[in-house]
Amino acid sequence: MSSNLLLLTEDLEELKSKGLFRTLRTLSNIRGTHATWKDKEIILFCGNDYLGLSRHPRVIAKAREALQKYGVGSGAARLISGTSDLHTRLEEELARFKKKETALLYGAGYLTNVGVLSALAGQKDLIVMDKLCHASLIDGAKLSGATLRVFPHKNYEKCEEILKKGAGFRKRLLVSDTVFSMDGDLADLAELGRLKEKHKTQLIVDDAHGTGVFGPEGRGVTEGDVIVGTLSKAFGVYGGFAAASQSIIETLINFSRSFLFATASPPAFAGAALESLRLIQEDSSLREKLWQNVDKVKAFFRKKGIVSESESPIFPIIVGDENEAVRVSNELLRQGILIPAIRYPTVSKGKARLRLTVSAAHTEEDLEKLFKTLKGVLG
Ligand SMILES: Cc1ncc(COP(=O)(O)O)c(C=O)c1O
Repeated sequence: MSSNLLLLTEDLEELKSKGLFRTLRTLSNIRGTHATWKDKEIILFCGNDYLGLSRHPRVIAKAREALQKYGVGSGAARLISGTSDLHTRLEEELARFKKKETALLYGAGYLTNVGVLSALAGQKDLIVMDKLCHASLIDGAKLSGATLRVFPHKNYEKCEEILKKGAGFRKRLLVSDTVFSMDGDLADLAELGRLKEKHKTQLIVDDAHGTGVFGPEGRGVTEGDVIVGTLSKAFGVYGGFAAASQSIIETLINFSRSFLFATASPPAFAGAALESLRLIQEDSSLREKLWQNVDKVKAFFRKKGIVSESESPIFPIIVGDENEAVRVSNELLRQGILIPAIRYPTVSKGKARLRLTVSAAHTEEDLEKLFKTLKGVLG
């Protein structure tokens, strides 16, 4: 074996010994919140399809219509021939939805964050970021070549200290998730807005888990110079977007490499997302159902004494030890409930957890089975 391969093997063995080795799990017959795993019916409490739109008949019909009309692939990058009228319409409607001048679609939320930060910041700039921001924001910051300083989670005093010390940088970008994806708690947007005004920074917020879920008409957050969103969660489709001023979006079109050098997402995704956006705004019953389910999980947690800071449909159950988190998750799955173990590097070492999410698509029966199984497995 070559020395390189030997090193790889050693790395993998190390992961295994620490309970950090990851493998794929193949599901079949996936039907929103239900699927089949190894011939067994399971209920999924782990997706981000918060409103159940991935299976909504109107969303599917629009995807099908666009597939028939445009074919499957988009064939080229957006600046070549990959921009269909559906992409442009979706961008216009997303901009209106987020109350910004304009918007830009990317292949995925991950690509959006990487592309936005690497285009808007450079070596002379400072990026100041909450410690629990999503990996894609960290990767974008690293790729930008800017100096990256991280403040402890939601510690805005520390954040302000860093901003003050960084007054000599050409530009300062303040970056935060709106809903933290592994803890389910919320950033303080008013405080971020105050810091932005006081220190004349650009504010970039990642509203991946907020859009469609929070606020009137599911609008989520509208504050910030750039709002990043994804079509892969409450929209139930796939893709990402940035909403901002005309000049910022023009900068992204010209300098954002994950936009420039990637094929446009399939027009059918844009067709489907347009319908999701309509439903998000028109049909508040989906959100009402989601929040009813959230309240039921909160009540169960309270009764069981499970501590949770969550203010969203994302509920961490902190286990701590990585191997133990995997064991508990495997046992739940054996009993028909899929709640994955989340471990380092997604969360800090020793903070392994089960990440439970609920959707409007979960029925009363699904929740009863969840609570009964959790009681049995967690004790
Ligand atoms: C906060 C946050 N930002 C960005 C992303 C990336 O979005 P996408 O899955 O569309 O690539 C995710 C999803 O994993 C996320 O949780």
